Amino acid sequence: MKDQAEKLRQMAQKLFIPTPLSSNGRIIKTSVRSKPHVITVTSGKGGVGKTNFTVNLALALAECGKKVLVIDADLGMGNVDIVLGCSAPYNMMHLLEDNLEITDIMINGPRGIKFLSGGSGIHELANLSQENLGKIIKKMLLVDDWADVILVDTGAGISHNVINFVMAADEVIIITTPEPTAITDAYAIMKTFVRCHGTAPLKLVVNRVVDDDEGQGVVQKLVYVALHFLHLSIDKLGFVYEDRCVMQAVKKQVPLLISFPHSISSHCMNQIAHKIIYGEKITPSKGIKEFFSKLLNKVM
Ligand SMILES: Nc1ncnc2c1ncn2[C@@H]1O[C@H](COP(=O)(O)OP(=O)(O)OP(=O)(O)O)[C@@H](O)[C@H]1O
Ligand SMILES: [Mg+2]
Repeated sequence: MKDQAEKLRQMAQKLFIPTPLSSNGRIIKTSVRSKPHVITVTSGKGGVGKTNFTVNLALALAECGKKVLVIDADLGMGNVDIVLGCSAPYNMMHLLEDNLEITDIMINGPRGIKFLSGGSGIHELANLSQENLGKIIKKMLLVDDWADVILVDTGAGISHNVINFVMAADEVIIITTPEPTAITDAYAIMKTFVRCHGTAPLKLVVNRVVDDDEGQGVVQKLVYVALHFLHLSIDKLGFVYEDRCVMQAVKKQVPLLISFPHSISSHCMNQIAHKIIYGEKITPSKGIKEFFSKLLNKVM
């Protein structure tokens, strides 16, 4: 028994995570529940609809009974708060303050979803001392006990930060529109993913399609080039139709699924959420600990 406890302590130290101890020195047992599934949403090209997709997917998953946390990883340019219609007084760097826990800095969104602002914090993570890194990760681990799904909204492009979030996820959703520029940039993400030896399943969403045929054409092109030039297999997750309601919802600062629940784009989002929950293959989840460990190994 003593040996096992020691091993656990050593494992935690390797990850810079102080093992939680109760007042009598025993290891605190956390409740046994499956780890959250971490999904990173990315695109290559900017402005293709990642943030609107992430926020509304979160709401659609929540409607299906999932506990969802959205992490805004569009550092310095994040706008999840605006699309969600919530203000963000805290970000991850506040976890360094002794009196603040993860539950204090998670912002409550509609339908019980929670949201975590990256602020400019994650850039700064690269320069943190190991002690402070450990502090942040230790507090982040509590998310494992709360969330079923963690959605990470990235910024545009293929910066190191975006790639780190892509490489650390359990699953990656690549968003494109039918425009050739967006398709080319989606391909660029895949190329980088292969170059970095990524192994997470890649899923494709074509946003702003006029009909299913248009979406299917884009999927066929990307599936073909990924397979033939990169030996990479990608799956279609779904399409979201071009819909003025998306823009109107942003203007109102009330998410699409709430302001226009019966719109065509809301219907598309619900279908995609359904596919994620009940879809074919389930990818084993590694949880937030593995996600942050991978992320920080790359950042450091
Ligand atoms: N299905 C859609 N139909 C119509 N307009 C859409 C659709 N999806 C997104 N938009 C519009 O596209 C614009 C960009 O959306 P969004 O901010 O979600 O993109 P993004 O990929 O997150 O951008 P960035 O790369 O800057 O983070 C918004 O004005 C939004 O209203
Ligand atoms: Mg965005």
